[in-house]
Amino acid sequence: MDKKVTVVGAGNVGGMAAQHLAMKGICDVVLVDILDGIPQGKALDLAEASPIEKYDVNLTGSNDYEPSEGSDIVIITAGVPRKPNMSRDDLLGINAKIMKDITGKVAKLSPEAIILVLSNPLDAMCHVAFDTTGFPKNRVIGMAGVLDSARFRTFISWELGVSVESTQALVLGGHGDTMVPLPRYTTVAGIPITELLPEDRIEALIERTRNGGAEIVGLFKTGSAFYAPSSAVLEMAESILLDKKKILPCAAYLEGEYGKNGLFIGVPVKLGANGIEEIIELNLADKEMAELDKSADAVTELVEALKKLV
Ligand code: 2OP
Repeated sequence: MDKKVTVVGAGNVGGMAAQHLAMKGICDVVLVDILDGIPQGKALDLAEASPIEKYDVNLTGSNDYEPSEGSDIVIITAGVPRKPNMSRDDLLGINAKIMKDITGKVAKLSPEAIILVLSNPLDAMCHVAFDTTGFPKNRVIGMAGVLDSARFRTFISWELGVSVESTQALVLGGHGDTMVPLPRYTTVAGIPITELLPEDRIEALIERTRNGGAEIVGLFKTGSAFYAPSSAVLEMAESILLDKKKILPCAAYLEGEYGKNGLFIGVPVKLGANGIEEIIELNLADKEMAELDKSADAVTELVEALKKLV
């Protein structure tokens, strides 16, 4: 394969992301993790599935970063997941140190890579990756909006008894309790859900979306979601590798867009071979803008806290 994607963190999210990538057959995959034997074992296991699943990609597992050299994309899933009654923000200190160490190594070996961040608290971790690598803003991207929008779409399809495929949703803002699901831009076969559901039901689905990650943590008790997060990052990686130019909500570094400066937050972007090729600026209504401002304030607070930590 002429494309290489490295997945850092071979836990549930990383392992699933590696499997999704291999199944697409569009890139070689390197799994990196500090745990001895885990990335090697998962890469070998995935390779042994390839004759049945019919993918001809190279799979490598490693405890060091050398095999990742020259990666086109580096997906970072490493970090401590939250436990019940923890917010994503509680992970700030520990995951910031992990992120700094990883992205420092990635920048040296894969200076042209596009980094996709999954570790939490997501938007703050994008700042650590951006500051540590010095990469341009189009090459540091956070995965959150695709996941949050997929959750919103799932709940809408259940509520209306329609195929998930007929749903489209847009969730902006930080990947936290203040995320901003936008009903006006959320549709079923092009029909805004505001025309299909009463306000109180929409509010209930928004609330469930905001708590989507915590709902899974509450069920697992020992970790967080991995099926939907790994599917979400696959959609982003595929759009980049195949230069599909999909419009997806991702955490992007804003310089003036939406009235925000020097801040990573979820907005609709065009994802292609150059990473973020465009930030789409919507004409938000006052209430929507106020919610985005609140979400941006929550991210800013974390970024300020970060400055004292790393
Ligand atoms: C989630 O929302 C882990 O943040 C991730 O499930």
